[in-house]
Order: sequence, then structure tokens, then C-alpha cells
Amino acid sequence: MGTLDGKVAIITGVGRPDGIGEATALKMAEEGASVVISDICRTYEGDMSWYPLGGWEYLESVVKKIEDMGKKARAFKVDITKKDEIEEMVKETVKAFNRIDILVNNAGSGVGVGPFLDITEAAWDKTMEVNVKGTFFCMRAVIPEMLKVGGGRIINLSSTAGLMGPAEYGAYSPSKFAIIGMTQTVALEYAPKNILINAVCPHFVETSMGRDEYQYIAMLNDITPEEAREKSIKTIPIGRPATGRDIADVIYFLASPLGSYMVGQAVPITGGGELWSP
Ligand SMILES: NC(=O)c1ccc[n+]([C@@H]2O[C@H](COP(=O)([O-])OP(=O)(O)OC[C@H]3O[C@@H](n4cnc5c(N)ncnc54)[C@H](O)[C@@H]3O)[C@@H](O)[C@H]2O)c1
Repeated sequence: MGTLDGKVAIITGVGRPDGIGEATALKMAEEGASVVISDICRTYEGDMSWYPLGGWEYLESVVKKIEDMGKKARAFKVDITKKDEIEEMVKETVKAFNRIDILVNNAGSGVGVGPFLDITEAAWDKTMEVNVKGTFFCMRAVIPEMLKVGGGRIINLSSTAGLMGPAEYGAYSPSKFAIIGMTQTVALEYAPKNILINAVCPHFVETSMGRDEYQYIAMLNDITPEEAREKSIKTIPIGRPATGRDIADVIYFLASPLGSYMVGQAVPITGGGELWSP
């Protein structure tokens, strides 16, 4: 018996190796949930086409891992800035599994980092569109389905950069603050209807996005990515960076019966480190 037997979870942004999304999908499936995963599966337009994003083949490999566990999974190509693509995923999920109990708004974009004067208008817009509007669209599409089944859980991915603004995160940090504001206001509106909404705020997580971060810190400080990693680990009392699984365990807590008194919280996951200490 799993603690999420009979539940149906949607998780966005699962298309990159070692991501928080994949770890969360596997954890939810281990606990018995049927899992719907998605990712953008195409590049950003124009000048941002270099930005690394998740792909269909990786999504399919995660579906296979879940099916090999004897659990059910489906994958969808969804750009969370496109309302029609989200609505199609929600419709197909209900068709396949009859209900939606859990939404993890994990998809996010780090395209809006760098020296403030170098952040283009396009990077600002993309960051806000993906991190803020995408979370807004996904919550709006799923809440009506949760109301039909008497409640649900939503977990939004913020960051320690959503609790304290680090230097050179001029668009990313404001977008992650906005996610916490949205989490708090919508949580208070829907707690009486048994939809419990919270955010998690990881510090450094060694995912594909986290490793991109080491490259960035290395470039800024004229050191190697390995040295950047060591520098970052020295700031973490627990002595190692987080893995996707560390974050997935906290997301699971909030999605499971264990999290039944959690409403509108922004939970830092830092290994004991300062909120921001690259
Ligand atoms: N890695 C870290 O250190 C860290 C720290 C704090 C918060 N976070 C947040 O955790 C979440 C997961 O990040 P991760 O580290 O697992 O990185 P990741 O790169 O594996 O996951 C982010 C995913 O979002 C997807 N995505 C981007 N734009 C999209 C769009 N328009 N539509 C659909 N999908 C889109 C990407 O394709 C990618 O697969 C993100 O919201 C990130 O901001 C990460």
C-alpha cells in the first residue's frame, strides 16, 4: 500500500536528466500515484534558442521507468506559457485517470540571470512568462478539477532566490518572489475548499540547471566549474549539494497525508546554508 494510492499527479518540467521533476515523478509513483509528466520539448524562440530545455525522448524514458515499477504514467508536450496546451493535458489526464489530485509546478526558466544591464527585455519577459504566468495558467487549469473531487494539493517551485534577492538574478529572483506571493494568496482562497497550496524554496540542487549554475559562477569568478562546485559546497553545513530526490521528498511531504496542515508556506530547503551564499 502506498500513501498516494488512487491519486493522480501532474508534474511539469520533467524533460531534463537528474531534474527535480523526474525525482518527484518517481517518488509520487513509488507512493502509488498515477503520474502525468510534461515538458516544453522545443527551443525558446529567437535569441534565447541556446537555452537548454527538456525533450520528448527523456520524458518517454521517465514514463518507462514508472511503468517498469508497475505504475501508470503519461507524457505530454506542454509549453506552460500556452494555455491551450495546458488545457489539453488536463483534459487528457481526466480522460485517462478520471481525476487530478496533485499539481507540481516544477517547470521553470533560469534565462533571466546575469549582470542586470545585460538582461534583455526578451529574457525578462520569458522569465516572467514561464515562472509566473505559467504557474498561474497551470493552477487555473487544474483547480476546477480538484474542486470536483473535493480537494487537492499544489506545490509551486520557488527558490531561496524567492526569499532573498542574490546579486545578478535580476529577472529570476523577482519571478520566484512572485511565485511565493501567488502561492500565499491562492492558498488562502482555496484552503476552505481543501486545496492546500504551498511552495518549496531549494538552494543549490545538482540538476542540469544546477550544473549550468556552476558554469555561470565559474565564468564570473574566473575559476573552473569544479572549483565553483567546491566553493558552493563549502557554504553548505551538511557538506553536499541537494539532489533532485532531496527536494522531491519535501514536495512529497506537502502532497501526502503528512502535509495536511500546511497552507501557504514557502519551505526553504538549504542543507543548513544561508539563504543565498554562492
Ligand atoms: N537546480 C537548482 O539549483 C534550483 C534551485 C531552486 C529552484 N529551482 C527550481 O526548480 C525547478 C526545477 O529545476 P531543475 O533544477 O530540476 O532544472 P531542470 O532544468 O531540470 O528543470 C526545469 C524544466 O523546466 C522546463 N521548462 C522551461 N521552460 C518551459 C516552458 N515554457 N514550458 C514547459 N517547460 C519548461 C525545462 O525544459 C526543464 O526541463 C525550476 O522551477 C527551478 O527554477 C532549481
